[in-house]
Amino acid sequence: MNEPTNSTIDTATGLSAPAELSTERVKDIFTTIARKYELFNAVSSFGSYRRWLDGMMRQAPIMAHHDVLDIAGGTGDVSRWVARFHHPRHIQCTDLVPAMLDVARAHKARGDFGDVPIDFDVVDAQDIPYEDESYDIITMAYGIRNMPDRPRALAEMQRVLKPGGALVCLEFSTPPNPIWRALYTFYLKHLIPFWGGLITGDRSGFVYLAKSIRAFPDQQGLAKLMEDAGFVGITWKNYTGGIAAVHVAHKPN
Ligand SMILES: C[S@@+](CC[C@H](N)C(=O)[O-])C[C@H]1O[C@@H](n2cnc3c(N)ncnc32)[C@H](O)[C@@H]1O
Repeated sequence: MNEPTNSTIDTATGLSAPAELSTERVKDIFTTIARKYELFNAVSSFGSYRRWLDGMMRQAPIMAHHDVLDIAGGTGDVSRWVARFHHPRHIQCTDLVPAMLDVARAHKARGDFGDVPIDFDVVDAQDIPYEDESYDIITMAYGIRNMPDRPRALAEMQRVLKPGGALVCLEFSTPPNPIWRALYTFYLKHLIPFWGGLITGDRSGFVYLAKSIRAFPDQQGLAKLMEDAGFVGITWKNYTGGIAAVHVAHKPN
């Protein structure tokens, strides 16, 4: 188990702050919006989130004999894509917020994971309750941005991966083109809180979402955090002009 680091931040600003501030806020937000989360995703990204998940799956080196750990798995979107694209031996879908996993369990009851064995568990990624070297692949979409102790979370993921295993991380990122970046920043500041408030009734949660995206490191910055946690062979691919990026990082053999 990795100990907490001295570098906890407020995930809305990137400034130094006690971890509890961000953890309690994120629990509140995702407990409130859990049932509307998927609808918001579909509407606010104009369907792009599906293309980004397809890209994530193409980059994910998952094989049929693999055990996959989905971190910050939420309502199970990534796990569903993994089941459909890669049909691994087992998926462990985890999240900090029980209400999000309840929606994922309802997907299981509807048969949305096909015949791939899947289990659900409430897990804080900064303190993963699993054995060292127990997973072949970790997937994580839109998770690390919400974690106040990112070095510890990445160190925990590194610990539970088998040697040679890979972390596949989809996250909002920074468009390199300044004009596209300016348009996107306007969309984040003004339209995301509007759509979010309309669909879920929780405008403040979406003000947070927009702030956290703007405060998050760019592609190189995230790669550096991964490198500092001991990952090697880190690559990334931009989607929709860099609004999102998928990083793949390996644990050394
Ligand atoms: C934007 S949602 C993404 C859910 C899912 N991965 C998807 O692609 O739809 C972010 C998720 O991160 C979870 N989360 C936030 N902090 C976490 C932590 N410290 N450990 C585990 N999950 C966390 C939230 O509960 C929420 O379900």
